[in-house]
Amino acid sequence: MSLLQAEEPDARGESRMTKETGAAETAEGRFITIEGIDGCGKSTQAKRLCEWLDGTEKEPEKEPERRQNQRQNQKKVLRTFEPGGWSGGEFLRRLLLEGSPVTSRTELLLFLADRSGHLDAEIEPALLSGRWVVCERYTDSTLAYQSWGRGIALREVEGFLDLCRFRTPDLTILLDIGAPAARARLERRGRLDRIESELDSELDKEGFMARVAQGYRELAKRRPERIAVLDAASDADRVFEAVQECVLRRLRPGVGPGRNSA
Ligand code: TMP
Repeated sequence: MSLLQAEEPDARGESRMTKETGAAETAEGRFITIEGIDGCGKSTQAKRLCEWLDGTEKEPEKEPERRQNQRQNQKKVLRTFEPGGWSGGEFLRRLLLEGSPVTSRTELLLFLADRSGHLDAEIEPALLSGRWVVCERYTDSTLAYQSWGRGIALREVEGFLDLCRFRTPDLTILLDIGAPAARARLERRGRLDRIESELDSELDKEGFMARVAQGYRELAKRRPERIAVLDAASDADRVFEAVQECVLRRLRPGVGPGRNSA
């Protein structure tokens, strides 16, 4: 099933959104963020969500229709990620994940700088042209990792975020999984980045990741209208069914917070 219709933008450049969700005609696309601790399965779910929204998910029995949808819809959804999902972001991602350690405060500011560039260069233009955006990690990563994980006071991280006035997502999907299960997945995957390998240290063990997971759960409790918590411990197909159900249920007219309110 394709969620977004194959309609072209009208003369004013406004895109007509899905009949299947029942969403009203709107000039802007919807902004979905996917969050969770390292190893929660974000990338798998983001990829499948984008394919589904675009109508390019595998339906072998309907191949001609699928190809038609693919041609018409392939530019309807932007799949992106943080840190680094824009032209200048590659350098920042390398600095953050492969460079030498920086202080927690510097790390926080680099994540915010990356987000600012990412919004200007990719996310805002896509949404304004009517495309939907699916982004792996966003402001909740900053709150969960830099505050619960690194220990920077929550009010300080929130203060920086308020100053930045980043757009608020229409929906955030939190893939909730316990730290030990996520860690086992990361170990199976192999090479760890700087942040992941720091968690390896004898000093911290699973403490950091467990705190981040806890942070995410608290954020979800505080903002239930925006953040949907899905159990990410089961197999990828089951999780994806929950993702689909959540998007259909939540992204209807009138649902979702407005701009610039965290
Ligand atoms: P990933 O893109 O492979 O998930 O790796 C990104 C890492 O950066 C991950 O460990 C989470 C971390 N991170 C933060 O600490 N704060 C942030 O604001 C963002 C976007 C990511």
